Amino acid sequence: MSDALKKLAGQAALEFVQDGMKLGIGTGSTAEAFIRVLGEKVAEGLQIIGVPTSERTRALCEELNIPLTTLDDTPQLDLTIDGADEIDPSLSLIKGGGGALLREKIVAAASDDMLVIADESKLVNPLGAFPLPIEVNPFGLAATKIMIEGVAEELGLSGPLDLRMVVGDTPFITDGGHYILDASFGRIVDPKTVSVALNGVPGVVEHGLFTGLASRAIITNKDGARIVEAADKT
Ligand code: 5RP
Repeated sequence: MSDALKKLAGQAALEFVQDGMKLGIGTGSTAEAFIRVLGEKVAEGLQIIGVPTSERTRALCEELNIPLTTLDDTPQLDLTIDGADEIDPSLSLIKGGGGALLREKIVAAASDDMLVIADESKLVNPLGAFPLPIEVNPFGLAATKIMIEGVAEELGLSGPLDLRMVVGDTPFITDGGHYILDASFGRIVDPKTVSVALNGVPGVVEHGLFTGLASRAIITNKDGARIVEAADKT
């Protein structure tokens, strides 16, 4: 996705932001484009308060003087605006390419609505070409991996579970202090069922399947930005 398309998505998302809103603020390069235009509007007088979905997003918001709060002080938000790695027709998502899926899901779930911003290459049917990030507790990693494989097999899914690395043999650590397994399961035709099954595995903290959270997406391409509504919010 070009920087221009990301900026276009960010600008289009501003249309959904109203004075006084409590916003969930996403993570990733598309969310960053939104944060930058949001910062400009705040500098011009827009009154919003935001909950960042990662330390990276917090740092950028602070740099741009975007007022921030926490879910402890502000547990109910109006709208979360965030990117995605894949989007299916019912607006089920794969997220977590940037490793922020746990906070992203908590913040989106605490919001009345979630607006996804992405370019049209992220539209897929079904989900699954992008490896599914699964956030796991470092304790018992090998055992958790075997249990995930077992649950996946029962659902007809298989494929490598790769521990995400930063460099060499240093694992990527999330903001919550966990590891990420990137699961190359391939086609995920029933994300809700897979979501529930993965959440039942001890050691799995959260995973990147977002179902029933987003009701709209702003999709950009070279011709501009359009709104896509969830075909079926499950
Ligand atoms: C971070 C995410 C991002 O929203 C997702 O990876 C998309 O990022 P980008 O806008 O850079 O393509 O889920 O955890």
